[in-house]
Amino acid sequence: MDNPFLPREAEIIERTDETRNLFSLRLRFTDAEYQARYRFEPGQFNMLYLHGVGEVPISIVSDPSDEHIFDHTIRIVGSVTRGIAQLRVGDKLGVRGPYGRGWPVTAAEGTDVVIVTGGLGCAPSVSMIEYVIRRRERYGRIYIIQGVKHSADLIWRQRYEAWRKTPDTDVFLTADTGDALWPWHTGPVSQFFDKLDIDPQQSTVMMCGPEGMMLAVGKEMLRRGVDGRHLWMSMERNMHCALGSCGRCQLGPKFVCRDGPVFNYAELAPYLGHKGI
Ligand SMILES: Cc1cc2nc3c(=O)[nH]c(=O)nc-3n(C[C@H](O)[C@H](O)[C@H](O)COP(=O)(O)OP(=O)(O)OC[C@H]3O[C@@H](n4cnc5c(N)ncnc54)[C@H](O)[C@@H]3O)c2cc1C
Ligand code: FES
Repeated sequence: MDNPFLPREAEIIERTDETRNLFSLRLRFTDAEYQARYRFEPGQFNMLYLHGVGEVPISIVSDPSDEHIFDHTIRIVGSVTRGIAQLRVGDKLGVRGPYGRGWPVTAAEGTDVVIVTGGLGCAPSVSMIEYVIRRRERYGRIYIIQGVKHSADLIWRQRYEAWRKTPDTDVFLTADTGDALWPWHTGPVSQFFDKLDIDPQQSTVMMCGPEGMMLAVGKEMLRRGVDGRHLWMSMERNMHCALGSCGRCQLGPKFVCRDGPVFNYAELAPYLGHKGI
């Protein structure tokens, strides 16, 4: 049996610098047979291992139907991400995964989908947005609401433009502070909630971003009659094993690596907003 802690070798076949401190890698396992068997769901993550430096959890952002490759978008924050940023096309790194529970994309079929993301380019939400847009006919209306602190923080502008042109899809972008040429809105994401012409009984809400924002949006959606079982959020915690055995990522009685990173709002809300949990 395979050792679950042992990373597999993957090769960088494309690299894109998105911003000064954000880059994307397109990867492929060097073992072609393993690559052919490798499957994942939107919202799941891999552990990326840089020899001699360490290992980090990173969401998979490509579409699961692209079976020959998988993509990661990585923000440079510390030693491992800075080290991975030095790699170029043809270089290799270790990958193990996929891990965790992804977005409920099948359960959401036939419903309106409201996607609320906050902060700097939320990778887990991109995989899910791309997934529903590619399978547009399976879903009702799609609302994409993205809030950033400053207009300069918005990445993937072309993607938002492309999503906006998709039928029955509304894109709302807002910044707490916008520069002079910022063409969209300023203020909190909540300003758009009155514009959502959704049937609360037939809607799925998926959230990604700062926990305070997700808690507030969740409360507002419940107030508007959305069933707590149809509210979902992607969580982040520092990780070590990613296998539910070390306890590093514990959140209340849950392990983010094993029980998440995508959680149902109702199951997690009691543990959010408390210091130390
Ligand atoms: C399930 C999951 C999916 C993720 N997906 C992505 C992704 O797609 N792209 C991406 O760029 N990052 C993602 N992250 C965050 C990424 O794992 C961390 O940025 C990375 O581990 C930092 O490692 P480092 O060695 O570069 O920095 P470190 O030296 O470990 O940390 C630098 C700083 O970042 C803080 N930090 C580290 N990890 C986290 C974390 N998980 N949450 C909050 N603060 C943290 C540290 O406390 C420290 O202040 C994800 C995290 C999780 C748990
Ligand atoms: S990272 Fe070890 S239990 Fe989650």
